[in-house]
Amino acid sequence: MSLGILRIDRLRNLENVEIVFQSQCSIFHGLNGSGKTSLLEAVYLLGRGNSFRSKNLDNLVNYGKSDFICFAQLSNAADDKVGFSRNGDSHTTLIKKNGEAVRSLSELASTLPVLLITPQTFDLLTGGPKERRRFLDWGVFHVEHEYKRVWQQWRRVLNQRNKILKNATINRFELSSWDNQFSELSEKVSAYRKHYSDVLIDTFRSLLECSDFTKNGNAETIGILRQIEFHYEKGWKLKTGLEEQLANCYETDYRYGYSTIGPQKAELQFKFSEKPVTEVLSRGQLKALITTLLVAQLTILKKKTDQQCTVLIDDIGAELDMGSQVFLLKEILKNKAQALVTVLDADNARNLASTVNEDFEVQMFHVEHGQITPANERG
Ligand SMILES: Nc1ncnc2c1ncn2[C@@H]1O[C@H](COP(=O)(O)OP(=O)(O)O)[C@@H](O)[C@H]1O
Ligand SMILES: [Mg+2]
Repeated sequence: MSLGILRIDRLRNLENVEIVFQSQCSIFHGLNGSGKTSLLEAVYLLGRGNSFRSKNLDNLVNYGKSDFICFAQLSNAADDKVGFSRNGDSHTTLIKKNGEAVRSLSELASTLPVLLITPQTFDLLTGGPKERRRFLDWGVFHVEHEYKRVWQQWRRVLNQRNKILKNATINRFELSSWDNQFSELSEKVSAYRKHYSDVLIDTFRSLLECSDFTKNGNAETIGILRQIEFHYEKGWKLKTGLEEQLANCYETDYRYGYSTIGPQKAELQFKFSEKPVTEVLSRGQLKALITTLLVAQLTILKKKTDQQCTVLIDDIGAELDMGSQVFLLKEILKNKAQALVTVLDADNARNLASTVNEDFEVQMFHVEHGQITPANERG
């Protein structure tokens, strides 16, 4: 368990909240607009440094107030304390770890690794490749410590290259001066991603042979999942080197005003019988595939690092039936991750809590008008 105590002041409708976590799994239930997603948003800020709902953090400040503060006392080996505050008047953010200013978001992310699952997560396969790249990068970042640095360097060079391409006049010389560095860094980024996607498929396949899967899952769905093929495409053709291909793309890149080949175009495709899964699998089967991928990510994280991840699941009942909710939650908890789950319906919350409670300790909370209070089994 990584979150020990959480305090939130003046974030959206959460004016003054304190939660003491005593179980690996916490279930929050409450009506629409009560503050459930805001609670997860606060934890996400502490782990990722940004919000998954708003680009402008000033919008999170409680109406009429000038700032918000989130604070977490972690129950990790170092007993770390993390704080995040935003002043809406001066538009400034302050992030602190153990009293000292935090300069990089990666420091924050490795102190409190957070995995977010929302109803939109279940669009991972139907949406564009960007989300799948993010999914892949989250995994690589948490298991390969060098990755963030390489990724950032690559991104900086990509931005430089794109800046030149936005100019109306073609400056081939200036552009080509970046190509060598861009190619080298792109190869590195891609090698990390490729390696991770190989580990991901191995882990995914082994999960499908685990007794929990075969016992609880739908046999037909498991049969289909076993045949899924992963295809990692790095974002440029395999046949020649990237530098050579970049030189051949100058005209196209200038026309579009950005780099059209490279890791920013990578894709992780999932196929069944050589067809994209989105064209042949049912919505339920796609959800089972996504759920298994998420569990595989957590399994890798647990195996490769001994870090405990905090998994935030918003509105778990929106996309998953009771069987799948229990399955996902138990798999998360088996990986020693902490789970914070929000549920709209009180009956759903009670059923979920009592089933998960067969194997893991569960705490229930009731959320109402921005107040969060411990609830007993009856809610
Ligand atoms: N800056 C803000 N100040 C005060 N209240 C806000 C702010 N932003 C959003 N809200 C309100 O906070 C409430 C909680 O929203 P949310 O966390 O999304 O609820 P839930 O997830 O429980 O449906 C909503 O009623 C929303 O209108
Ligand atoms: Mg919500």
